[in-house]
Amino acid sequence: MKIYKVLPDLSKTRQMKIWHKALRSQWSATDIKWDTPQRITSNHLKDQLGRILTPVLMGEQAALYSVSGLIPILGKMSQVESQLYLTTWAVDEARHTELFTIFYDRIDRQPMPIRRFPAGYLFQSQIVAEEPAEWLAGVLVSEVMAKKLMEEFRRLDLDPILSDVADGILLDEARHLGFNHIYLEDRFSDLHLNAEDQGQGFALQLHRRLDSVLSHLQPVLDALATELKDIGIDRIEIFDKVGHEARQRLDKSILAGRRHAEGKQKASQLAEAELVGA
Ligand SMILES: [Fe+2]
Ligand SMILES: [Fe+2]
Repeated sequence: MKIYKVLPDLSKTRQMKIWHKALRSQWSATDIKWDTPQRITSNHLKDQLGRILTPVLMGEQAALYSVSGLIPILGKMSQVESQLYLTTWAVDEARHTELFTIFYDRIDRQPMPIRRFPAGYLFQSQIVAEEPAEWLAGVLVSEVMAKKLMEEFRRLDLDPILSDVADGILLDEARHLGFNHIYLEDRFSDLHLNAEDQGQGFALQLHRRLDSVLSHLQPVLDALATELKDIGIDRIEIFDKVGHEARQRLDKSILAGRRHAEGKQKASQLAEAELVGA
């Protein structure tokens, strides 16, 4: 089996660094003090939060599926350094899935079923892809969306536990976005060096992919218009911000790869990669 004989390329220092950082940053749902008294006591607000969190929990679980699916693909492509990192990304999404499951239990509510929320399921199904760069361009939308929503939960501070969960997830999401940048930057740097003419076409293809995934996000937010308004989240503003940041991040990864290949710029450091486009 050829795929088991390829070892990680230790000279890919950024990939190795993000993998080590992810290993050291692991935490568990049991670190959260779930018995902290709830701040939300209104049944109506709990109902609304139960609906708002449906695409969040769904996004975490969909991410767990899609990241896990990419692990063997990267192995087959001999990109073992990336494969190592993705094992931690999968663990992160598994943890997020567990966190929101426990939070649902805390507020005694359940996520909406598929027949009541088809837009949510349709959005998640758009992200699945077997080509790593295509997948990363699509997943940018859901990762940036998760980041923006966690920032909103922290700002609103509806419940102390939800704020703690949001804090932890934001640190994990920063790494996911950092890896997204590093991987795409390397990919476009290689493309520019080896097949310059293909770089532009591929950039366009990834932008189309991002836009297509993004077009499925608006109906998700529209379906929750009343709930979002009532808890204080402006869905138009959040949609615009997600689109802007996701496109900007993709642009920056493509440009950084090209400039690196041309010898005009050093490869981004890990801390820059996490912040890029934010
Ligand atoms: Fe997540
Ligand atoms: Fe994530």
